[in-house]
Amino acid sequence: MTRRSLFVAMLMLAPALAPVLALAGDPKRDALVAEYAAQAKARDPAFTAFSPARGEALYRGTWSGGDPRTTSCTACHTANPRQPGQNAKTGRPIDPVAVSANPARFTDRATVEKHFVRDCKSVMGRECTALEKGDYVAFMAAQ
Ligand code: HEC
Repeated sequence: MTRRSLFVAMLMLAPALAPVLALAGDPKRDALVAEYAAQAKARDPAFTAFSPARGEALYRGTWSGGDPRTTSCTACHTANPRQPGQNAKTGRPIDPVAVSANPARFTDRATVEKHFVRDCKSVMGRECTALEKGDYVAFMAAQ
């Protein structure tokens, strides 16, 4: 096989491989989770692993200290993270946040960090901790 025909074959295979790759995880998402794990461990040496259950409690919980219009992540991302959401402040549509519905989620570090600062402040009146961020990603990756 020439290099060119190998390249063409890879392009043709890409759509077939996409669901498999989504299941296997994404290297950028994995790297971000590893970064949060190192931070969580540095803060609490007893840290062992992120928890989808804690992430779900964070997602569905009602918080105080933030904007009264948005006391929960569900205010914009809805009770079903596999469904599209709607910004409770601006009315603009939001793509689903679950990884199964949107495999690009949690792969762009700058975007993820921007929202963990902005959205956690909006809901909880503070930034999320590394433990909370990792738990949240673990929950969304399991959806
Ligand atoms: C005021 C509405 C609003 C609330 C409340 C909200 N978000 Fe968001 N969130 C957004 C918008 C808008 C985006 C960006 C649009 C998009 O990604 O489709 C976003 C995207 C994100 C992303 C980026 C994910 C990625 O990889 O693209 C993260 C992380 C996030 N939100 C976390 C949270 C968490 C955690 C909470 C609850 C503590 C929360 N959000 C509550 C509006 C909100």
